[in-house]
Order: sequence, then structure tokens, then C-alpha cells
Amino acid sequence: MTARHGHRGEKMENAEKKRVFSGVQPSGNLTIGNYLGAIKNFKSFEEQYKTFYCVVDLHAITVRQVPAELRRRTYETLALYMASGLDETKNTLFVQSHVHEHAELGWILDCYTMFGELSRMTQFKDKSAKHAENINAGLFTYPALMAADILLYGTDIVPVGIDQKQHLELARDVAMRFNQIYSDTFTVPEGYISESTMKIMSLAEPTAKMSKSDTNQNAVVYILDSKDDIMRKFKRAVTDSGSEVRYSEDKPGVSNLMTIYRAFTGKELADIEREFDGVGYGEFKLAVGEACADGLAPVRERYNQLIADKAHLEAVMKAGAEEASYYARRMMSKVRRKIGFVG
Ligand code: TRP
Repeated sequence: MTARHGHRGEKMENAEKKRVFSGVQPSGNLTIGNYLGAIKNFKSFEEQYKTFYCVVDLHAITVRQVPAELRRRTYETLALYMASGLDETKNTLFVQSHVHEHAELGWILDCYTMFGELSRMTQFKDKSAKHAENINAGLFTYPALMAADILLYGTDIVPVGIDQKQHLELARDVAMRFNQIYSDTFTVPEGYISESTMKIMSLAEPTAKMSKSDTNQNAVVYILDSKDDIMRKFKRAVTDSGSEVRYSEDKPGVSNLMTIYRAFTGKELADIEREFDGVGYGEFKLAVGEACADGLAPVRERYNQLIADKAHLEAVMKAGAEEASYYARRMMSKVRRKIGFVG
């Protein structure tokens, strides 16, 4: 089969491939929760799918950002994508605000997303409790913009952490609603929530999600933490009563450590229980720390090289935005026509 002339996006091989889209916010330092729950899985799609991985800066401003930090973190998030093994020639890596169609479709989908639906979003409820002084309209309509991100590319699969499941369901509902009103327009996306990594919890309070904005620095392991920091945090990790390394609901601390260990080593839970049979929590925590530090070391090394070359990162985001725009423009012209906008 020969590639057609013109834009890269027009290649036959791409036209036939299913699409993957995901996004990460450039706010806060990324944690092993972001890494294991989402980014680490992204690479597995790059051969079989047409993949779009976006740094979602429009989403980030739903919470007040310091401009210089937002800019710096946008570069950092892109570098982390690449450091996690995403090859920029195989994946479309770009920044959301560089492709204007995201904001445009975001507005349109606001008009097909119900107030009641948005009111039920647990992330909105959590974030508005946390940022009571800034409950802006963008924070409320955030999921409609996320739906726009996804639907703009005819996305089939969306790899995300489990905390995004509700937003994804909403994107599906909005896609189906639009299709029903105007005839088939959007692909209804499926979530891809990896079983083995699920949700990574705080090391200090294992019933709460590990959050990049946690003020307790021992609760959160960042992707770019040094080995010393990683070991210290795991040594201090909260465990449960008893002394057995066993995965169970009444052992949230140990279970979380087992999840992390499994994600970095690829071992099964039952094997992990066997491996640490009769061994105390202390030794187990050290093993988890080692596995985590070893798993992240190559990422940190690549990251340090990438972040030092800003011009290269800029070239990658520019090429990515051009590629993404090609798809986004085509979808928008279809959407405009269906809605009844002139021209
Ligand atoms: N809301 C996602 C998060 O915080 C980020 C995001 C924005 C996203 N748009 C997306 C994820 C589209 C997947 C697909 O983590």
C-alpha cells in the first residue's frame, strides 16, 4: 500500500489505524501515580495505533497558575512524555493551546453537556472544595473540554487513570448525544484503565489518592525524585496493623505498596505475597523503594538530557501541533456543517 501525497496525516496507514488520545496537565510535579496510572501505558500503543498525547494547558488554568511555572511545566511534561519512552516520530506529542480547535469544540460541547451532569462530577466537587475562593466556570465545564480533546481526533481508546473514569463516561454520553441529534459524527471512545496499576494511593494516608498537590512531601513520590528521596519516602510509608504482606481491603497501606511493587516489577500479587512471606514490613518497604528507584532511574536520566535542549522540545511541540491540527481541522469542519454554522 502506498502513502498518498501531502500531509503526514494523510498516509493510508494512519487512516486505517485506530486512534488513541490522552492528556496530562502541566500543573505540579508528576507523581508515580501519573506515571503508573497513565504515562507508562502510553508507549504500548505506538505501533498499532495512531496516538495523540497532549499537554493540556487549557485545563491547567482552571486552577490559578503562576505564568512562569505553567510555561516551565509545559516543557517538563513534554520532556517526561519523551523520557517515558514515547518516540516523537511515532506519536503525536503536542500542547493543547497550540491547536485552537480544542477551545472551539470545547465551547460547542458545553452546549451539549448538561448542568446536572457536570454537577455530579466528583472531581469538580473535590476541586471546588479545595479551591473555594476560585470556583470558576472553567472548573465546572472542564469535562466538556476534555470530551472535546478526545472527540476531536475520532479517538477509539483513551488510556487514563481510574480517577478519570467518570469524565470519560461523560465524553461518551456527549458523543452519543451529538451523534443522535446530528447523525454519526464522533467516535464513541473506550477508556483503557490498566488493571495492574489502577489507583496509586498516598504513602502517608493510603485511603486517599496520591496527589501531586499534597502538602505532605512524604506522601508523594515524584517521577523525578532522587533515589535517596524515594527510599526515605518508602521507609516512612504508612503500613497497617499485623505484619503480613498480604493484599486485602483492610490493609490499604500494604496493598498500595504491593500495587506499586507489582507495577514496577511485573510480578503477580500472589507471587509478591510468597516472596515476602515471613518477612517484616520494614524489609518489604525497602524492596518496594528499590524497585521504584530502579524503574525510574532511566526515565530521570533521559529527562535530564531532554530538558536541557529547549530548542528540540520546541521543534517537537511545533511538529506535533501541525500534525494534530490536520485532524482537528477536518473534524471541526464536519461539526460546523452538522450544527448549521455558515461557511
Ligand atoms: N483530566 C485529565 C486529568 O487530569 C487530563 C485530560 C485532559 C485528559 N484532557 C484529556 C485525559 C483527554 C485523557 C483524555 O488527569
